[in-house]
Amino acid sequence: MKIAVSGKGGVGKTTVAANLAKAFAARGYRVYAVDADPDVSLGAVLGFSAAELAGLRPVMEMQEVIAERAGQGSAFYTLNPKVDDLIDRFSLQRGNIRFLRMGAVKQGGSSCYCRENSFLYAVLGNLLLDRKDVVIMDMSAGIEHLTRGTARGVDLMIIVTEPTQVSVQTAQVVKKLAADLGIGRVKFLANKVRTGREREFISARLSAAELLGVVPFNEEILDNAMADQSGVLADAGGILPGMDALTAEIIAEASQAQQ
Ligand SMILES: Nc1ncnc2c1ncn2[C@@H]1O[C@H](COP(=O)(O)OP(=O)(O)OP(=O)(O)O)[C@@H](O)[C@H]1O
Ligand SMILES: [Mg+2]
Repeated sequence: MKIAVSGKGGVGKTTVAANLAKAFAARGYRVYAVDADPDVSLGAVLGFSAAELAGLRPVMEMQEVIAERAGQGSAFYTLNPKVDDLIDRFSLQRGNIRFLRMGAVKQGGSSCYCRENSFLYAVLGNLLLDRKDVVIMDMSAGIEHLTRGTARGVDLMIIVTEPTQVSVQTAQVVKKLAADLGIGRVKFLANKVRTGREREFISARLSAAELLGVVPFNEEILDNAMADQSGVLADAGGILPGMDALTAEIIAEASQAQQ
């Protein structure tokens, strides 16, 4: 199952992606957690140390290895690279979680960006997944990364939103775009919800059918952010209240869809 997590800047995409990764891992799934955001923070939130992260080669550099294998530096589009062995060289592993980072790309609009983006999704598309494997992608904020390449192979897009007007509006725009690109299932996730009024705000704007769940604002996250989290076991750390139930729901829905 391939899950992409998107939404406006700062809404909690990385937090949600990391918590989903941990929750799936704790349930015995093998998780590929992919930082598709060039700003790289997913690895740190998962508990990998700065030294480990500094030594991790970005997936983008895989192009060179694949080109070498192919004997020349051209046309990686036409290759159908077998990437499973490469994943080991381009990932950090702890417990059931493998962490990969996409790496820096040129920003928005340039053809190069699209090409590299396509490469990442080609790689992900070539991962041979077992029933118990999950790919979780932490996307960049905004919508320019949403291309047909992104859509390929994404089973579920989770659009995170805060209980604010601006955030919900962005979420709606992302949803429309994702639907236009043919992504099969697109669901909203309300994050950082503190009060009953905020819950009402969300349910007045997003229907129960399109809302995957509500994750309350959590004070402990702030405390943890002040502490040094590096070295905390990636798939054994605390999971945000609400996120495990959500993971169970995603699994139940996915198995229904397969029947
Ligand atoms: N449920 C929550 N309760 C409290 N704080 C939260 C919650 N979810 C996320 N945060 C905090 O909000 C901030 C932004 O979260 P996060 O980095 O996950 O957002 P993001 O959408 O990935 O941001 P960016 O667009 O910069 O990548 C972080 O400080 C994070 O700890
Ligand atoms: Mg982020």
